[in-house]
Amino acid sequence: MQGKFITLEGIEGSGKSTNLKVIKDIFDQNKIDYVITREPGGGPLGPHLRKLLLDKDQSISPSVEMLLMMADRKDHVDNLIKPNLDKGVWVISDRYLDSTIAYQGGGRQLDINLITSLSAALKLPSPDFTLLFDLPVDVALHRAEERSELDRFEREPKDFHSRIRDSYLELASNNHRIRTVDSSKDIESVSMQVEKYLTDFLNA
Ligand code: TYD
Repeated sequence: MQGKFITLEGIEGSGKSTNLKVIKDIFDQNKIDYVITREPGGGPLGPHLRKLLLDKDQSISPSVEMLLMMADRKDHVDNLIKPNLDKGVWVISDRYLDSTIAYQGGGRQLDINLITSLSAALKLPSPDFTLLFDLPVDVALHRAEERSELDRFEREPKDFHSRIRDSYLELASNNHRIRTVDSSKDIESVSMQVEKYLTDFLNA
């Protein structure tokens, strides 16, 4: 049987990575065989592409940025995501196609149809289930600033991040596979929401 494909999405500082532990615990309790991966950077070419894409001193045009994200994704899908799903192993990816729709479509204002057409042409699989970590942009950016030195995306103005958040919320309202977690709450309340949504998905 095919493994299930689960993705985590959200703006900078939204708490995706913090909640990986909760997700792992639920999978372990349910004896599910899984791999955890991320974008950009999950395929064999990933480390090079990720370094280039996040480098704050690199100047990259919006369409080239989108194409590099899609190239990274195709490499990731062909070499890690698909082989695992085909073996029955579940894949949890920290970011996937919704990130390109929100960041390059919403944030950089590229044509979303171009992104979805390219994804279809490349035969990229759709996630079975997505958790969207949502919170106000001010709170999220403050958290990201406290975390580490800011990368090329985190340095963008607030408007850019607000457009990304709006795109994500629109995606969530149009796609039943996406569950929105209120990430502005304390860690415990966020973990409880993650646990509930994931358990509901496992029992569906
Ligand atoms: P990362 O350090 O992994 O950020 P985070 O911890 O917030 O996930 O950096 C990934 C950055 O790449 C993040 O700013 C979002 C951006 N990104 C895109 O713009 N488009 C994409 O398709 C993907 C996968 C990521």
